[in-house]
Amino acid sequence: MPYIDVAIENGIAVLGIDRPQALNALNRDLVDELDASIDAISKDESIRVLVLYSKQNFAAGADIKNMVDMSEAEAKAFAFSETFNKIEDLPIPTIAAVEGYALGGGLELALACDMRIAAPDAKLGFPETGLGIMPGAGGTARAARLTGPAKAMELILLGTIIGAEEAHKIGLVNQVSESGGLLELALKWAGRLAKGAPVALRTAKQTVRQGLLEADVKRAIEIEGDNWAALFNTEDQKEGMKAFIEKRKPAYQGK
Ligand code: CAA
Repeated sequence: MPYIDVAIENGIAVLGIDRPQALNALNRDLVDELDASIDAISKDESIRVLVLYSKQNFAAGADIKNMVDMSEAEAKAFAFSETFNKIEDLPIPTIAAVEGYALGGGLELALACDMRIAAPDAKLGFPETGLGIMPGAGGTARAARLTGPAKAMELILLGTIIGAEEAHKIGLVNQVSESGGLLELALKWAGRLAKGAPVALRTAKQTVRQGLLEADVKRAIEIEGDNWAALFNTEDQKEGMKAFIEKRKPAYQGK
């Protein structure tokens, strides 16, 4: 695949975009490749965690040169939400490791992941209104849920590009790495997740997502209670608790 690299080691898939000449701007072919890679990752049961990491720049947004003359119908066909939703829907934990620019569709790609880690030099934002459009791949919905509506409005309406520390302060990223330590930190988090109890992680991810969709918090807590109790049907629950009592590390089977 010319635009997408996937390396798999110890249950961790690291997926990177390789289009440095355009700061990893996203065109249709690239997103089609990304889509196919996500399909392959979702079918590979050996993969426990996905890290999205691209060298130098995460992605400087959708390819403006491709979009300039598009009609409404062409814009709909070009849009990336289907693929980004697939990333959000992956049952395994996902981490975006952001260095350089994560703008527009690039930031939306990072927001489709469960967690985000940023290098100190990262620059994040939604410049779309400056181009006469708006975020169109989940940005309005996902940013507002993470930062609250006022900060999301500020980012989207003013188009301000913010640094990693500011993004951390407003909840857009989980943590800022040391300079030069982004991938190492992301792999450290991924390593912990890869050693975790797969069914518990999958159920916890799904429960957080389900809970966010529930307007009634008591209903969300009911769903949580059912999902929590169901984990007592798993061998991993017995293994995790026995390992604690026997003062050893658990060896999870994902069952
Ligand atoms: N689309 C197409 N090409 C892009 C691009 C993009 N989003 N971002 C960068 N490039 C290209 C530049 O055109 C340039 O190519 P050439 O050498 O052929 O001219 C190359 O990448 C290097 O970029 P710059 O020379 O501009 O680099 P810089 O360091 O001076 O500036 C930047 C970096 C501030 C990120 C600037 O490139 C920029 O503003 N890029 C556009 C960012 C943007 O507006 N993104 C949102 C796109 S819309 C979107 O994503 C819609 C959506 O919701 C899906």
